[in-house]
This record gives sequence, structure tokens and C-alpha cells, in this order.
Amino acid sequence: MNNTSGIKKSLLIRLENLKNLTVEKHQLVSKEIIAEICDITEETGREIAVYIDRKGAVIDVGIGDVNTVTLKAFNNRRSEEGLSGIRCVHTHPEGSGRLSDVDLSALKKMRFDIMAAVGVSDGLMTNSSMAFLGIDNEKQLQSIIMGPYVEEKLMKVNILDIIAYAETGIKEIRKTGKRVENDAERAVLVGIEDEEDLDELMELLKTAGGFEVGRMVQSKDKKDTAFFIGRGKLKELKLLSQTLDANLVIFDEELSGAQIRNLEEALGLKVIDRTQLILDIFAQRARSKEGKLQVELAQLKYAMPRLAGMGQQMSRTGGGIGTRGPGEKKLEVDRRRIKDRINILEKELKEIEKHRNIRRRGRTSGKVFQICLVGYTNSGKSTLLNSLANADIYAEDRLFATLDPTIRKVTLHNGKEVLIADTVGFIRKLPHELIKAFKSTLEEVLYADLLIHMIDGSNPDYDIQAKVAMDVLAELGAGSKDMITAINKIDKCPRKFTEPVYINMGETVFISALYRTGLPKLLALIEKHASMQSKTVEFLIPYTDGSLVSTIHGSVDKILLEQYRENGIYIKAEADEISCGRFKKYMI
Ligand code: GTP
Repeated sequence: MNNTSGIKKSLLIRLENLKNLTVEKHQLVSKEIIAEICDITEETGREIAVYIDRKGAVIDVGIGDVNTVTLKAFNNRRSEEGLSGIRCVHTHPEGSGRLSDVDLSALKKMRFDIMAAVGVSDGLMTNSSMAFLGIDNEKQLQSIIMGPYVEEKLMKVNILDIIAYAETGIKEIRKTGKRVENDAERAVLVGIEDEEDLDELMELLKTAGGFEVGRMVQSKDKKDTAFFIGRGKLKELKLLSQTLDANLVIFDEELSGAQIRNLEEALGLKVIDRTQLILDIFAQRARSKEGKLQVELAQLKYAMPRLAGMGQQMSRTGGGIGTRGPGEKKLEVDRRRIKDRINILEKELKEIEKHRNIRRRGRTSGKVFQICLVGYTNSGKSTLLNSLANADIYAEDRLFATLDPTIRKVTLHNGKEVLIADTVGFIRKLPHELIKAFKSTLEEVLYADLLIHMIDGSNPDYDIQAKVAMDVLAELGAGSKDMITAINKIDKCPRKFTEPVYINMGETVFISALYRTGLPKLLALIEKHASMQSKTVEFLIPYTDGSLVSTIHGSVDKILLEQYRENGIYIKAEADEISCGRFKKYMI
């Protein structure tokens, strides 16, 4: 530790003890460390810095003079041109969490992963900003600033994404001496009234491959028809975007074509809304032919009435979020060609739909018990399907990893086979056009005998998310289906679930799809539901109708006994009502 003269021994011990604390890998710093450095700053009136490595260990602590903290050199830890692998979080005793020029030059000099300033007033954190290194158009290293954030927001920033971004740029410079073609877009998010709502937009942005550099909130009564936001806010937004070097502005609400044009002109930046962002994610994610056609159709239908406004900046900036079509196709911008394309797509989709109905009828008459996994996006549906069926379905920590209905066969302990289908995840404020566009994916839900509602128990908003999923199900007409609720990710749940999570959700199991905890209980429940539908029945088929035996085999759930008796073939089986009805005259 440096500059310790004049510091009380008790404070020195507290500073030393900071080194015993650890931080979650994805978090900048812990609440405990913030509280402690703010408190010590208040007592000493000096800047306090903690240096944290990528494992989340506090490797050193520093005390600054009144205004400048002496930054310790970590030369041994960094390679020639790479990042140091260390982040510096330090306090500003005068109350502002904005980064100073000194902070930013230290970021460059020391090649910190991140440099963060925490403003302190009355011993408490006011706000905090952070900066990391990126590369500008002149192939120069520059600081990209995020924030200021209040403490709660700061805790939600995932620094692993930031470090990965910074590393890519730095590595590329080292390799080629050239600027990286790093596609990650830097976006300012704009919302109405509630800043909390923007958290989901941020997640969506991350999924689309961009990241948030700042956010702005407008109050509801100040809405403007031409720009959506008030003129004062517009100026503020322009300044904020310039300061943060943003190249994209995303609105959490739907914008008209004229509003997009006006905003792009005023800001000189690409502007998109939430629907375009979601469509962009769908475009990147669609894998089946049907999924791709549906996404393209939804994109074109969305673009049609907005053609006059959209894409002014898009064509200039040459692509990126909001311009991508399924399969890396560039979106059509010619009105007549769009109309033709919409017609073609609708015809093709009708054809596919026909075949799908035949396929589904096939499954329905096969009498296999059908289960649908439903739930908020990122709740772990694909992971559960992987774990249950050992099927290798795409699962990653981004939203919407699943876009197409994916069905797997699972054999239960009693030998009965069930089909489990994955569905696209639900989100808050899913634009209406999209619900329609993905109806075919969600239609599986209507044909299911049982729904498994997955909830990410580790998400602080799990109850809101569960409600969104339930509302969407009700909207689809599947609200009263048989349902098992699976609270997932219990391996990283910060709280114990002792209360019922949500009323009317059927039986609840607590699982970790990833670590396969609680799966036997879930499977037992599935078995219970599956057998509830069938009963034990006996048939006697006269030898004259002997050819029916194979049809019965294919229709019932399970054959329990088969005997060739004097008066015909005796079959004892587990069968559901439909099969019983079909072979009623042979039942004994
Ligand atoms: P969408 O396709 O977006 O609807 O997502 P999904 O519901 O299919 O979620 P997915 O299975 O892709 O999981 C999302 C992320 O959560 C992945 O990073 C998984 O590894 C992670 N995950 C899933 N289950 C668990 C779990 O039980 N514990 C933990 N810690 N992570 C999990």
C-alpha cells in the first residue's frame, strides 16, 4: 500500500482487510467493497482504490492524495500490448462518479481491463462511471465510457462482455496494427418513465451482439409526435450519444417511419426501436426454413409502412443491428419488390403449414403424450431438453437461443415414451406482429397434453417474467392446460423459495437443468400426468378381425398382456379415451 502517512492504524487494517474480499467474476465490484471504500473515503477525505483481477480477487489497495490516486504499476502482469487483466475501482471524495482525464489516461497507460470511479458523499456512493479501451476510426486506442450508474444499476453491468470486447480490439491491434472490424454496436437506450424496463432492452441488445453505453429516460407526458421525445431531451440525447461515442440509439417503444427519419436526421445516428431489435435477433437466430420465412415476412411487414423514414442512416452506416435479414440476407428496401416478396413468402408458408398439420395429425393419432416447454426467454428450456433427452440443442447465455420448435422423444421410467417440444421464449411487451409471426411455433402449445413452465429462479424479476409467460399462454388460449412449474437455476438462486411463487401454476418442482438436480422428481411428475390420461382396459379381438391387433398396438400407450384365447386375441393395455373409443366394441 502506498501513501499511508497520516492514516490511522485502524483504517490501515480495514484497508488491508479489503484484500480478503472477493467479487463475482461478472461484477465490477461488490456492494461490500463499495460500502467500505466509501466509508474510508469519508473518514480520510482521500481517494481509495482497489485493484481486482479477473478471478475477482482484490490484489491490491491504494490511497491517493486529495485529488489523485497513485496508480500502482502492474507491468509484470501485462504482455506487450494486451490488457493488464486488472480493473481499478476508486473513489472520488468530492461526490462525482464521473471519470476525470487523469483516470482515463491511467486506463490507457496501465491497460486496465476497466477503470471505474465511485463518487462519495456523506460516506455513501452517489454514482459511478466506468471506462474501457476501444479503437476508433483512426486506429487509435480510446476510452469508452459507461454510466454514470446508481449502485443497483452498477451491480447489473456484466463486465465479462466489456472485457471480451476490449480484448478483441487490443489483440487485433497487436496482430495487425490495424483497426478491428468489430461489429459490436455501441448503443444508447431510450425509454419512457421507468428505467428498470430498459434492463430487458439491454439484454436484448446484448443478444443482438451490441452493448449499452448509456441510457436516457423520458417522462410520459412530454412525448412529442415528431421526435417521440421532447425537444430538450433530444438535445440531451445528442450530447449523450456524442460523449459516449454511440453509433446506435434504440427506443424501447415503437416508432413511426417519420419519427425514425426525424430522429436520425437530428442525431446523425442510426435509430431503431424495440421491435426492430427483436426482429434482428430473430433474423440471426432462425434456423429452420419456416422460421426464416416467418422472420423475413415479419420484417418486411414491419418495414412496409415505415419505408419513407427507415434506413436513412442504415444505408450510410452499411448494416448492423436492424438491417439484417435471416441467413445474413440484407433487407429489401424497395416497396414494390417488398410487396412481391411478401406474397411469395405467404404462399410458401401456407404450403409448409399444410405439411406441418399433416405431421402433427400423424403425431396426434400416434397417441404419444406431448409436452411443451414454455417460459420466459433464457429460463433454461433448451438446457432442460438437452438434459432430459441428451439431445444437443443450441443453448447459450443469450436471449432467444431457441426459435424453432424442437422436439425430442424421452422414455420415462415406466417405459412410456413422451414427446417434449421446446418453444420460443416469451418476453415482456412482445410486439403483436411478432406473436402472430411466431404463432406456428407457439401452436405446439395448444396441442400439448402437458405444459412445463420454466422459470429462471435466479432472476430478480422471476415473478414478473412468470406472469408474462402466463399472460401469453392465456392469450394463446392455453391458460387452463395441465401444467407443471419448474423453478430452474436453483444452483444460483440467491433466495430460498419457501412461498408459492405464483398462484395457479400447478405442481412446482425446483430444478437445475444445467446440473441435472431435481430431474427425477420432474420426470416422476411427468409420468404421473402422462398416466392420468390413460387407464387399463381389456380387449378381445375375434380371430376374424385379427388384422386389427397391429392397429391396437400402434394406438394404445402400453400393452400389458396379450394372449391367444379360444374366442379371440385377448389384449390388456393402457390406453387413453380416444383409443378406448375407437375400439369400444372390442372392450370387455
Ligand atoms: P430462449 O431460447 O432464449 O428462450 O432460452 P432458453 O429458455 O431455451 O434458455 P437456455 O436453455 O438457452 O439457457 C439460457 C442460459 O441459462 C444458458 O447459458 C444456460 O447454460 C443457462 N442455464 C440453464 N439452466 C441453468 C441452470 O440450471 N443453472 C444455471 N446456473 N444456468 C442455467
